[in-house]
Formats: sequence, structure tokens, C-alpha cells
Amino acid sequence: MSFLKRALSRYGMKKAPEDVIAQANDPSKSLKKSLGALDLTLLGVGAIIGAGIFVYAGLGAQIAGPHIIWSFVLVGAICGLAGLAYAELASSIPTSGSAYGYTYSALGETLAWILGWALVLEYAVGAAAVAISWSNNFVALWRGVTHTELPVWATNSYFSGVPGGVVNLPALLLALLVTTILVVGAKQAARFTGVFVAAKIAILAIVIGLGVFFIHGANLSLAPPPSPSGAWYAALGAVGPVLAGGAIIFFAYIGFDAVSTTAEETKNPKRDLPIGILGSLAICTVLYILASLVLLGMIPYTDLSPGNGVSVADASRHLGEPFGWAFEKNGILWAANLVRLGAVIGVASVEMVLLMGGPRVFFALARDGLLPKSWSAVHPRFGTPSRTTIGTGIAVALVAGFGTLGIAGQITNIGTLFAFVLVCIGVIVLRYTKPEMRRPFKVPLNIGRFPILAALGAVMCLALAFSLAPITILAFFAWMGLGLVIYALYGIRKSHLFGHVGREPEALKPVDVDVVLEEVPPSG
Ligand code: ALA
Repeated sequence: MSFLKRALSRYGMKKAPEDVIAQANDPSKSLKKSLGALDLTLLGVGAIIGAGIFVYAGLGAQIAGPHIIWSFVLVGAICGLAGLAYAELASSIPTSGSAYGYTYSALGETLAWILGWALVLEYAVGAAAVAISWSNNFVALWRGVTHTELPVWATNSYFSGVPGGVVNLPALLLALLVTTILVVGAKQAARFTGVFVAAKIAILAIVIGLGVFFIHGANLSLAPPPSPSGAWYAALGAVGPVLAGGAIIFFAYIGFDAVSTTAEETKNPKRDLPIGILGSLAICTVLYILASLVLLGMIPYTDLSPGNGVSVADASRHLGEPFGWAFEKNGILWAANLVRLGAVIGVASVEMVLLMGGPRVFFALARDGLLPKSWSAVHPRFGTPSRTTIGTGIAVALVAGFGTLGIAGQITNIGTLFAFVLVCIGVIVLRYTKPEMRRPFKVPLNIGRFPILAALGAVMCLALAFSLAPITILAFFAWMGLGLVIYALYGIRKSHLFGHVGREPEALKPVDVDVVLEEVPPSG
């Protein structure tokens, strides 16, 4: 009970936005303002496109069939609402931090810790999900080019349901390889960002431009698959599968929040931030709708599930790389392999973003004293956050090697949706607690101070979160419960800012670690 009392007392303990802004304005500590709207939009597109469209589109289509197109529209709009909330907070509190920083200012330490803990889940499990997706495309590319099969035991996790599967070695090794690259040369790796972005957009353009000639109208006119008996969404009629499928393909939109983390480096945040966030979302939404339209026009969605003559192993193969499979089935092998190659390159770039982002969250938590200080140690020679990078990388490699695509994706989604909900609520709370704060960008459509769209964003993100499988929701609560226990046993006593309840909180201290973080591309 005393923990509850202390935790609640910390609800009111917030980093004053003025302190955070002052830090950002201190020329010795702030980053150069060099980014414009186009830079931000490209950054967003680079962070967003990845496993979500190349792999999770198939898992969503298993649930919603061709109606997955509506899921992309719906989820794009929901992310747009969250994006507006991010833009308001990022332009008002323009630090290179992220949702964790905003929540600390708006909602206090306890919720900020909970959010940070959810972000750890987003990054770590997300990186595992992306590694598994990468492996699927790699294995298919190998098969397509060499006409030989890699052993089943070494390319499928025991838990994947594929007979004979033991461990997904390519996924495990990718996580370890990217970790090594990040420890020794994050900066060099970041230079290739432009190549990765170009590869991803080019591949989607090829998929759409070529695939459109292979659409079979009958595939698109199919009704959504019957809802599994007992599925909560069965009661919602045609909307149910669109929502449930949307909760899966939400993965494809994760990353737009990376734009908000550059607020401090943006020339004109009022104009450029909303353009960057909403623009990158809009571009991706259009690409996703067209790509999924082509995919589901090229193959019947029933090819993606076991049954109807499709074995468990085949369904798993098709699901793992639906676009490559769609081209192969239509007899265009060169295009199938090109798409696989593009996915291998593009998805690897997202792996890098996520494996960089995880240690960044640990940094933020450790520098505020909520995790041991040693977690923010920097490698003396490479200047990178080696310890947390290696720790996170090993954990991610294990989850990637033994986890499954569906579960890892869903867990990532629920953690991210939770962060979005808190950011939307943060906008509402700050409107009342800090009405005088300068807000270069404000979420439009308000009744008095009340931001209707931010509230709608929170409700819709919650609805999407509860559209995930019950087991995912349970696992999320278990993870959050563990986080609260750690906070009770550690963070609540060690927090730097509010270590002494009753005293005025210290101003946010500029931290050396920021210097290192400048080298780490921003993420969620
Ligand atoms: N949106 C990112 C992806 O699809 C996380 O891989």
C-alpha cells in the first residue's frame, strides 16, 4: 500500500516543460536546426516501411481477406490522430527525446516509467519480429536463387508450428550481426540510411507497377474469412475482421513517431513537424493500400492459411513472404526474387532502427535513475552504448530464434499502442495544467481547451489494442505488472529528479549521454 501511495504521489512530479525547453534552447546543448519538411517526411518513410507491409500484411489478410485494404485506411487514420498529438508535444517540448520525455512532463514519473517499460517491449520484441520477417525473406531468396532448401530445423522456431522446426537461425544471427555493427560503427551504418529508404520505396513501386497486371478480379471480390468461433469481433459483422486485421497491420505504421524526436533539429517545427509526420503517414498509407490491393488481387487469401490443400509448412512459407510468393505463383520468378531481395535490404534497415532505439530508451530511463546508472555506460573506444546494445541484442536474438511471427508482432503493437494512448492523453492533460505553454503546433478542432482529435486518438488506439488476441493483452499486463514491481523495488527509491519526496524537483540536468545519442538516429 505504501508503494501505491508513493507511486500516486509521484503522479504530480513532473519534469517542468520549461526546463526541458530551456535545455533545448541552450546553444551548447541543443542540436543544429537543419531539417526541413522534406527531410522529416523522408525520415518518417524510412522508419515506417518494413516488415509490416512486406510480411504482416499477409497475417492481417488471413483475418480480413481482401478487406485488409480497409484496415490500412482505418489504421492510417488512427495513426494520423496520434501523429497530431505527437506533433503538438514535439513542437511544444522540442527535445530529442520521445514519448517517454513528453509523458514525464505531462503525466508524471510513474506513468513515464510505465511508458518507458512499454517502449522497451516495443523495441525489443519489435526487433525480434522484424528479424523473423527478415529470415522468411532471406530463406525464400535463398530458395529462389539457389533452387536448394535450407534445413527446416534451422530456419523455423520450435514454436512456429512447422513440423521439424527447432530454431530460426537466420533471425537469431541477423539480430547478433546488427548488434555488432551497432556497437562498433553505428555512425557508419547510419550513412546508408538513404540507400535503404530508396530500396524500400523502389521495391514497393515495382510490386505495385508490375503486380497490377496480374490482379485477378475474383480474388478481390471474396468476402472476409469467417470469424473463428468465439472471436470477440465476430459480433461486429463486417467491421470486426477489419478491426482485428488492423490491429495486426498496425505494425506497418510503427516508426512515424521517429519524426517527432527531431523537433529540436527542425528549422520550423510549427510547419515542418506536422507535415513530416502526417506526410510520411499519408505516403505510406497510399503505398500500403496499393500494395495490399495488388497482393490480394494476385493470390486468393486462402493461400495464406493451412487447409484447402495448403499444408502448415506451405502456409507458413507463404505468410512469411506473401509478395514473393504472389509473384512466384503468377510465374514471374525474377520479380519474386527481386522483391525478396528488396525486403531483405529494407527490413534489415528497420532492424537497425529498432536495435538502436532500444538502448536509447534504456539510456533515458537510466539517466533519470529509474534503471541502474551502469546501463548508460558508453564504450570507451567506440563511443556507443555498448553494454545496453549487447544486452538488448542478445535478448532480441533469443526471442527472434525461438519466438513466432504472430505473437512477436502483436506484443510489439500493444506496447506501441499504449504509448500512443499516453501521448494523446498527455496532450489533453497539458492543455489544462500548462495552458500558457507555447504551442507552435496545436491539434486542430478544439472545444475550449479540449482537443477532440487527441481524445479520439486515445479512444481509437485503445480500441485497436483491445482488438488484439486475449493472450497478447494478458501478456502485456503481465509485462506491465513486472515493470511496476521493478519500479517499486528500484526506481521509486533511485529516481534522480525526485529522489527526495517533498523537495522541489531538480531542474532537468543536461546529460553527457546526449552527446552520444546525437549519433543514434532517432526512433519512437
Ligand atoms: N513499421 C516498421 C515495420 O513495418 C516497424 O517494420
